[in-house]
Amino acid sequence: MSEENVVNHAPESVEESEAQETEHPTTSDVLREWVEQLPEMEWMTRLSPEHPRYKIRLFLHCLFRFLGDELPEAWPNVEPATFRECLGFLEKHLHGLYHYVESQPSFDRDQQLMPRYLGETSLYLMRVDYEYPESMHTASQESIDLLRHRPNATIDFDQLYCSPDSTERRANRVRELYDVEGSRVAMLGDDDLVSILLGQKFQGEVHVLDLDDRLLSFIKEQAPAVQTHKADFFFDGIDPSLYQTFDAAMLDPPWTFYHMWCFLDKAIFCLKDDPNARIFLSYCPLLLEHRQRMMAQFQKRVTERGFCFESVETAYNLYELSPDVLPDFQHRLDKFLPMVESPLLDFLRHIPYAHAQLYVLKRIPNYKPPFWRRWFFYFWNKKSSVAPPSLQAKPEDVSP
Ligand SMILES: C[S@@+](CC[C@H](N)C(=O)[O-])C[C@H]1O[C@@H](n2cnc3c(N)ncnc32)[C@H](O)[C@@H]1O
Repeated sequence: MSEENVVNHAPESVEESEAQETEHPTTSDVLREWVEQLPEMEWMTRLSPEHPRYKIRLFLHCLFRFLGDELPEAWPNVEPATFRECLGFLEKHLHGLYHYVESQPSFDRDQQLMPRYLGETSLYLMRVDYEYPESMHTASQESIDLLRHRPNATIDFDQLYCSPDSTERRANRVRELYDVEGSRVAMLGDDDLVSILLGQKFQGEVHVLDLDDRLLSFIKEQAPAVQTHKADFFFDGIDPSLYQTFDAAMLDPPWTFYHMWCFLDKAIFCLKDDPNARIFLSYCPLLLEHRQRMMAQFQKRVTERGFCFESVETAYNLYELSPDVLPDFQHRLDKFLPMVESPLLDFLRHIPYAHAQLYVLKRIPNYKPPFWRRWFFYFWNKKSSVAPPSLQAKPEDVSP
């Protein structure tokens, strides 16, 4: 397909805009058309259709066909030069889309950026598929079974859970570093259920702090040793008895800067003042990189709190976006996508996974923030004596 075919233009009438807003075929309907045209490839028989790589590769092959080209049949086992050529081809098409959308003053900043997030995620999935072995995204059957009956992700608590292999990778990371008697790890929000995998075999204490009662009871049922605490990181703080008591704090906060910091500050509050203590933050890099000054602001705040990066690990977390897992995803997207008629953008809506890096943070050795900053941080992030409405017992919770 030539570049003209992916030129965008605004809808011509209100009716056209509304039709665009409400009619969305499911992922499978859109992709099925393209999947049917694909030749049988070796990996299709080897990987289960539920495997993240199966879905990612299928999407990439379909996307290339949609753009009028073909990914090599041997993909991802190709020479670096071939990889570069394929990546460049996709980039060229995406840049046309970004350029058009970002030059429209009638779109707000979120609408201008959303096509870029989808496009950059496609490029990122392409790199993941080329650079990392499939085994990286293969979860054990035991983990899959343990996570199977989880409560559905709900938008009420901004949930979007990661793939089982991502949960497994996080649990293994904590085990590698802290599986000794007396250690304490905290999950600040745990729709990803790392605590359940850890709770099967871990010598230290595992704590979960979350606002969602459904999750807290599910975790308690599946892993009784895990200690659960109801907490609201937006409208309240952390119990002072937990101040600086954990060796590790893990979080996958909401993908907005302000709310991410509500979570990250609570993780910092919980973390021991110890050189071996670590924060494991899963976060989408696009949100930090593509908004002006966001990354600079993020690093400044991290440093002010006495922390630095130990590592940034790509390809760490995948989040499934299929309608089976997230039935309202297409409608969530409607809120952010600009109203343009772009076949390419319509295709990108059906991307199978979002992704996040793992940012590992540690204390800067020998760094003590000024006293007033530490005092204010403690005061601001500790639990208040009056619970916010979200944490007050409802009449039905109080026994007679
Ligand atoms: C915020 S979600 C984010 C998931 C995913 N990374 C995303 O961006 O969609 C992570 C966890 O935080 C919990 N959570 C949401 N709001 C909360 C709040 N105000 N206080 C404490 N936990 C909260 C959710 O129940 C969930 O388990």
